[in-house]
Amino acid sequence: MNRTELARIAQAMVTRGKGILAADESSGTIKKRFDAIRIESTEEHRRTYREMLFTTPGAAESINGVILYDETLRQKTRDGKPFPDYLTQQGIIPGIKVDMGAKPLAGFPGETITEGLDGLRGRLSEYRQLGARFAKWRAVIDIAPGIPTSFAVKANAHALARYAALCQENDIVPIVEPEVLMDGDHSIERCEEVTDSVLSTVFRQLHEHRIYLEGMVLKPNMVISGKKAANRAAPEMVAEATVRCLKRHVPPAVPGIAFLSGGQSPTEATLHLSLMNRMGSLPWALTFSYGRALQDTALKAWGGRSDGFGAGQREFAHRARLNGLATAGRYTPDMEKQAA
Ligand code: 13P
Repeated sequence: MNRTELARIAQAMVTRGKGILAADESSGTIKKRFDAIRIESTEEHRRTYREMLFTTPGAAESINGVILYDETLRQKTRDGKPFPDYLTQQGIIPGIKVDMGAKPLAGFPGETITEGLDGLRGRLSEYRQLGARFAKWRAVIDIAPGIPTSFAVKANAHALARYAALCQENDIVPIVEPEVLMDGDHSIERCEEVTDSVLSTVFRQLHEHRIYLEGMVLKPNMVISGKKAANRAAPEMVAEATVRCLKRHVPPAVPGIAFLSGGQSPTEATLHLSLMNRMGSLPWALTFSYGRALQDTALKAWGGRSDGFGAGQREFAHRARLNGLATAGRYTPDMEKQAA
């Protein structure tokens, strides 16, 4: 393990003014996204769509990392340049999703365990040769009556820590992503209670697995009301509760926290991030690692049409720029009206 290298990459991933694009949808997930705009999920459509995002003019001004999926890491631009090489040339760090998805946890109805540890050491070493400098593993914690159980939280935290240790052994920065889902009608208080216990368990496991905290990035959910909750908490409350919860559990040795968007609308996700970054000095950088909140409008504008390529790029550039401003607390909702 090269600690200096790990810390350098982790710092670069959370540079102020920039964030990470999560474009690591598995084949199943991207098919769902394409179905919604009635495009067939062929390998070439998936390649073209990713090329549209990655070659967006000016993207590197607000994006400093992209999470790829196995297939995408091996694909090339139209001009024949492998995506990881293209991104690296733009000053964007390529990363790779390495988990194999959340599967039902036997004996615990309604709960999941993320798989993918078997053979991971070998895969990480190949991914590094292909250009990946960081990785992502997502644990999924659902809130519903009677769940999550402390057993499922612990099992997922243990797997996250084992993954993180293997990454660091291979000089790859782990993005540690314990996602508490915002599905359902739970209150923000319930989300805080669960997120609190998840982060506490995750950092305990990271410690026990001897993770080098300076060489990792945390990717958490925000503390937020369930999507179907009757009275959803205001943006200022989300920002406050999220920072309060993180301060209780995330050691200052961790260089940065890059949020997932988790089903928030693009504008909500940007506003929440900006409000948090206006809350005075914090011990870590707070940035974004959004999937849907960065891509939804671009995907629709593209619509799978070759004449939608430019419109898709303009939408993506617009959201990337606004989120970049949010990392410095400089986003305001009236900026949405300015032309994409
Ligand atoms: P969302 O921002 O769409 O939640 O995706 C981020 C991600 O990488 C989930 O693993």
